Amino acid sequence: MSAGSFALTRAAQVLTLHDPEGPRTAARRGAAMAELGILRDASVVVDAAGEIEWIGPHTELTALMDRGELSVERVHDCAGEVIMPALVDPHTHLVWAGDRRDELELRLGGADYEAIFAAGGGILSSVRQTRAASDEQLYAQSLRRIERMRACGATTFEIKSGYGLELEAELRQLRVARRLRDEAGVRVKTTCLAAHAFPETARRGPQARRRFVDEICEQILPAVASEGLADYADVFCDRGAFTKDEAARVLDTAHALGMGLRVHANEFGHTGGAELAAEFRAASADHLLHMNADERSALAEAGVVATLLPGTSLVLGKPFADGRALIDAGVAVAIASDCNPGSCALENLAMILGLACYGCKLAPAEAVVAATHNAAASLGLAAEVGRLEVGMSADLLVLATDDYRDLVYHAGSPLVREVYSRGHRIS
Ligand code: NIG
Ligand code: FE
Repeated sequence: MSAGSFALTRAAQVLTLHDPEGPRTAARRGAAMAELGILRDASVVVDAAGEIEWIGPHTELTALMDRGELSVERVHDCAGEVIMPALVDPHTHLVWAGDRRDELELRLGGADYEAIFAAGGGILSSVRQTRAASDEQLYAQSLRRIERMRACGATTFEIKSGYGLELEAELRQLRVARRLRDEAGVRVKTTCLAAHAFPETARRGPQARRRFVDEICEQILPAVASEGLADYADVFCDRGAFTKDEAARVLDTAHALGMGLRVHANEFGHTGGAELAAEFRAASADHLLHMNADERSALAEAGVVATLLPGTSLVLGKPFADGRALIDAGVAVAIASDCNPGSCALENLAMILGLACYGCKLAPAEAVVAATHNAAASLGLAAEVGRLEVGMSADLLVLATDDYRDLVYHAGSPLVREVYSRGHRIS
C-alpha cells in the first residue's frame, strides 16, 4: 500500500472546491459555501510523497502522458465515479472507555439526557469507565472507533479529552489521542476539554465547584500546555454545565497558555456560550441549537466557525440547529460527528452530511464544504486538507456513484469506496 505515484482517472465528477479567486484558507461563507469547483471526466495525479501533483480534465492528462511530460507508476480507472476531498471531522470525543448502551435504552424509554447527567450518570458514567481503563484498553477501544470512522470517509479528526476531569486522567486521554495521531494513519488535532462537566467531588457546593475551576486553570491546563498535548481548549458553557463566567476564566487561561479556543455552546439554552465564543474569537462554536439573530451576527462578525452536530439532535430527539439561518447571516458553517459515548455515538460522518441537509437545511454542496474545507479551516488545516489543489495532501475519497448528491439522496449507504490519507489507501 505504498503511496508511489498514481493517477485516479476519468472520474465523472472531481470536487476540487477550487476557489476562482485563488486558494484561500479562511472558512467559506455565504454563496461561496456552495462552490464545489466540479470538473467532469477528470483525473487526479498523486505523487510519491502523497501530495496532489496534477488535477484537470482527463484529455489533458492523456496529452501530457503521451508527450512524456508526466508519468505515473499506476493508473486507477475511476470512470463513472466521484473523487472528492476526504472528510474532516472537527468535533469528536472519540477517546473513551466502555459504553452507555444501558443509558441509551433508558433514554429511548423516555428518560431525559440532562436529568441522567444531573443524577451522576451520563458524562460522569463515562468518566468512571475511562478512569478505570488501562492506557492500552483506552487506546485499543479508540483505535477501533477511528478505523470505522475513517472507513466512512474521514481522515482528519479533532479529538477532545473530558472524560478524565482530573489531572492524570485528562493527560492520559490526550496522550492516547496523540498516539492515534502518530499511529492510526490519520491527522489529529487535540483539544483539552477538562471543562466538560463538574466531577462528583465538585458537586458538594459552590466552594467545591470553584475549586474545580481553579484546578482546571491552575493545574490541568498548564500541565497540558507544558507537555504540548493540546492544540485547543474547549469548555461546555450551557445549562447544567459551566456558567459564562466560569467558561470565560477557562478560555482566558487557555488563551494565555497559547491554545486555540473552541466552545460547546447553546445546546440546551441561551447561557452566553455563543457570545463568549465571539468575544474570545474562538476558532469554533459548536452545537448552537438555540440561537437568536444577535448571536448569529456576533459569530459572523468575529469570524467564528459554527460547527453543527446534527447526529446529536437526532440521537437526543432535540431540534436541529438552524444552519440555513447561520449561513444566511454570513456565518461559516462546519459539520461534525460529535462522536461520543452518550449523546451521539454515530461514527459515519458521510451520513451526518445527509442529516445536515435534512435537519439543518444545508444544500448538499454546502454540506460538502462544511465537512471538508470549512472543517479544516476551523482546525487551522485548510492549506493541507479539505480541497483538491496541487501541492495539498492527497486526502481524498472515491465514491461509488457518479453524482456527489447521492451522499444526501442515499445518506447512510456505503458509497465511500476508497479512502486515501496522505496518498496511502487506508480503507
Ligand atoms: O458534545 N455536550 C456535551 N458533551 C458531549 C456529550 C458527551 C456525553 O454525553 O458523553 C456533546 O454532546
Ligand atoms: Fe461535543
